[in-house]
Amino acid sequence: MTPRIVFSDPTFAPVIEARPGRCPGPRSIFGKMKWLAPVLGAAIIAGSSVQADPDGQEIYIDLCASCHSETRLGGIGPALIPEALGRLRGQSLSGIIANGRVATQMPAFGATLSAAEVEAVALFISSPLPNIPQWTAEEITATRVMAEDYLPAPAPVFDADPMNITLVVETGDHHISVLNGDTFEVLDRFPTPFAVHGGPKFSPDGRYVFVMSRDGWVQKYDIWSLKEVGRIRAGINSRNIAMSADGKWLAVANYLPHSLTILSTDDLSVAAIRDITARDGTSSRVSAVYQAPQRESFILALKDAPEIWEIGTTEDAGPFHEGFVHRHESGMKEALAEEHGLFARRRIMINEPLDDFFFTSDYRNLIGASRTGDKGVVVNLDVGREVAELPLPGMPHLGSGISWQRRGHTVMATPHLKEGKLSVIDTRDWSIVKVIDTLGPGFFLRSHENTPYVWADVFFGPNKDKMHIIDKDTLEIVKTLDPAPGKTVAHIEFTKTGKYALVSIWEDDGAVIVYDAETLEEVRRLPMRKPSGKYNVWNKITFSDGTSH
Ligand code: HEC
Repeated sequence: MTPRIVFSDPTFAPVIEARPGRCPGPRSIFGKMKWLAPVLGAAIIAGSSVQADPDGQEIYIDLCASCHSETRLGGIGPALIPEALGRLRGQSLSGIIANGRVATQMPAFGATLSAAEVEAVALFISSPLPNIPQWTAEEITATRVMAEDYLPAPAPVFDADPMNITLVVETGDHHISVLNGDTFEVLDRFPTPFAVHGGPKFSPDGRYVFVMSRDGWVQKYDIWSLKEVGRIRAGINSRNIAMSADGKWLAVANYLPHSLTILSTDDLSVAAIRDITARDGTSSRVSAVYQAPQRESFILALKDAPEIWEIGTTEDAGPFHEGFVHRHESGMKEALAEEHGLFARRRIMINEPLDDFFFTSDYRNLIGASRTGDKGVVVNLDVGREVAELPLPGMPHLGSGISWQRRGHTVMATPHLKEGKLSVIDTRDWSIVKVIDTLGPGFFLRSHENTPYVWADVFFGPNKDKMHIIDKDTLEIVKTLDPAPGKTVAHIEFTKTGKYALVSIWEDDGAVIVYDAETLEEVRRLPMRKPSGKYNVWNKITFSDGTSH
């Protein structure tokens, strides 16, 4: 969700360096033909010596496959495919391979491999998979691991208010800390799958939480028992998850393959897999899936097709008419296709693909960001079409939009990823109430029903250490916090009653800072490993307006 993926481009040219004494055998030539056909073609045309190249695939099989698997889909190490590595955000791939990752099982290969060999294996893992596995229900089911020592506790095993638990995702070493929201004691710190992505989702009663990783693993954790229940790999490369209103189903939005996997929240079994094929036959990735509790449905943003999908999560969903389907066989009449029942799909046709949705609290309307990054498009979900457009230049980050009541109107606010601005919009007529100038582009925005302020981070640029506090009524910045000069200070979550605001110092030797939300004074600083998102059970299960969902 960052504006630019600054990973070394998957198509970057390999460093071609002659290495005498190493002639690839037939297997490696075949390997190159299969994996690197375009690059190889270019090399032959340029007349360079193919034999002299270090063979990335061969090195991979010899040195990497034991941990990352022959298929590159991951084992004890994560998946090494361009879809996953694109999220490394500026870290150099060859740097990781040469230096390894300190305090993990990822070894340093700088002493074993030449620079050219490191480049070759980096190029190999950056090339697309020749065949995308289907990831069928059987394949998914085979990955499911239920924790053997798990027994559900009859009541919470701690004294803290279970409704005021806050989870902190620590991306530095792939853990989640479970915080008592009143005392800030860490009740448990459990390992997550590698690279948690998208917000964890709580069951409607707040007891269980589901966590998803970049490589499509979904983990179920029992907060009352402070124990993992199990995990399953629902996708190969995934975006986020959503929970149905009744708490029975968990939807997983996948980039790879092009599908939505629906799991039973009870035992993580596969309930359904929906392939994502647009009406015109285009196969599409799912940018994100959202829960629309009032509608008892999931809403899907399609990345590669101008459609929004709504998937019913009740037995009586639909019927949703697909429009006329032309049958070409002789004697067949035009049929009116329709879907009804559990997981029935409705297609909402739009003008261009939209991403990154903000929903009004009644879930009648959503605003999506257009690909061009200069406007928001309002889609009315009841009538199923676009109803308004509003100018939002500088790439709005609508997914972290929040809303509140102001002078009798519901307003929503969104940061912009490429401009130091926050837009405040009246949701009655979609007019812009104010554009607030900030010290740089922000990523997250939070408030709470019981606080007069909106907290807005400055995520990008030289002022990434600043945090603005904005008055919800005057829409003026009343204070700018600077708690850790030079460090990234980002993402805010409130405790259940809004008494405290928790802010991340988003660094490997980072911290969560607890602020008194009224006096804006620091109360505590809890050391954490690159804490990113924080999720309060109550604010999430009540769909507080002050938080994105
Ligand atoms: C002994 C097991 C092991 C071997 C062998 C191994 N890796 Fe890794 N690798 C890991 C683990 C574990 C991680 C995750 C480290 C972390 O927690 O950041 C990792 C991470 C990585 C990453 C970073 C991925 C990301 O998304 O952050 C890259 C790139 C990588 N390995 C490439 C390689 C290559 C190329 C080879 C072979 C030359 C290799 N690895 C060999 C275990 C291994």
